[in-house]
Amino acid sequence: MASNRGEFSSSLGFIMAAAGSAIGLGNIWGFPTQTAQNGGAAFVLMYLILAFLVGYPLLMAEFVIGRHTRSNPVGAYQKMKGGKNFVPAGFIGILTSSLILSFYSIIAGTMMAHFVEPIFRLLGANAIADWCISNDPIRNITFTTIFFLLTISIITGGVKSGIEKWSSRLMPALLVMLIMLTIYVLTLNGAGEGVKIYLLPDFKKAFTGELLLGALGQSFFSLSLGVGTMLVYGSYISNKENLPRLGILVTLADVGIAFLAGLMIIPAIYVAANAGTQIFDEGGNLISGPNLVFQVLPEVFKIMGGLGIPAAIIFFLLMSVAALTSSISMLEVPVAYMVDAGKASRKTATWVIGGIFWIVGLIIAFGGDAILNMVVSLTTQYSQPLLGLVICVFIGWVAHRNTIIEEIKKGSPDIENTFFMKTWPFFVKFISPLLILIVFLKQFF
Ligand code: PFF
Repeated sequence: MASNRGEFSSSLGFIMAAAGSAIGLGNIWGFPTQTAQNGGAAFVLMYLILAFLVGYPLLMAEFVIGRHTRSNPVGAYQKMKGGKNFVPAGFIGILTSSLILSFYSIIAGTMMAHFVEPIFRLLGANAIADWCISNDPIRNITFTTIFFLLTISIITGGVKSGIEKWSSRLMPALLVMLIMLTIYVLTLNGAGEGVKIYLLPDFKKAFTGELLLGALGQSFFSLSLGVGTMLVYGSYISNKENLPRLGILVTLADVGIAFLAGLMIIPAIYVAANAGTQIFDEGGNLISGPNLVFQVLPEVFKIMGGLGIPAAIIFFLLMSVAALTSSISMLEVPVAYMVDAGKASRKTATWVIGGIFWIVGLIIAFGGDAILNMVVSLTTQYSQPLLGLVICVFIGWVAHRNTIIEEIKKGSPDIENTFFMKTWPFFVKFISPLLILIVFLKQFF
């Protein structure tokens, strides 16, 4: 059975895929944006702490469940002892992953439109270039659709020749582009002020409920946790692999790229300020969200003179690539469910589910900001942390300890007395769920 589900061919292939899922718009847009909204370095610090204290233990829990059951979230709970009551959480995870795909693709489509815009302009097709960055609904439909088609075509290829192959090609490209842009931005006038804001914490802000909730949500979203993505990718890891090591590498890659993206974007905002652009909103907060990416950054590209056009092309290509290696992991969750449950072939499942959530995406796109914001907050602020809590409860309190330890030991026989084994069980049982609960409840008080 396991053999026809597919398996990653090497640890590097897996790391590329899982880091590809983790590293996305959440890192390059979400993280810098949230940092800007929450006063800079204090947010960075809390995010790092929560990523390691809550994110990593949960990532490991998903890998262990996935590899042990070789299944999707629903199948996994069905297979594990004591998991029956958790099956509904598996379904909610699949639905959440699919809904995230729907809204994510709208934003990713906009990134792609901004990527091709300067290319059309260079070719002299100014009317098309203008259209690419307009608010025309047909523009939205077109690029959201192209993005869905790319996602679907990779997922029909399966684990090795779809997910692994494309993640392994695109992730190194992403890293090179990000490093080039960051170094370049740091050489521009005004960047130093941004670096200061980014790296010097204002501790007064570190413990406000809003900041903590944002940092926790960000670490969940960024590590693709709760919804079963990492569980499903874990189900394709070979028994030879050392899970704790893979988990650490993926977490470090994710956090590292977010950090690097912040080191490019926050200074870029101050480069724009240096040239006279307004970088604070009416509330006195640093500009963020769509205004940051689609208004302030284009100002920075203008300041760059001749290098501005290549920089813009590289930036939006970077965003599109990061989004694509994440969107495939979202689509893989429902597809794995359909395939495992014997409901359809991979190809049929991918087209049917891709088609359904493409339509959902278009409905969200046309529903306006209110609907979009509702879906975003329902999936990322509520569903992801709560599903994460459920996974902690399952692994920490319900599943048999020996089953879990044996699973981890498969690829790392000497794990017994390591730091990992002394801390991780305690974290998934107590610390991570408690932190999730505290941060989650704090928003209501
Ligand atoms: N981790 C992705 C990002 O940071 O953009 C987003 C994501 C991927 C969320 C996969 C959830 C998911 F299942």
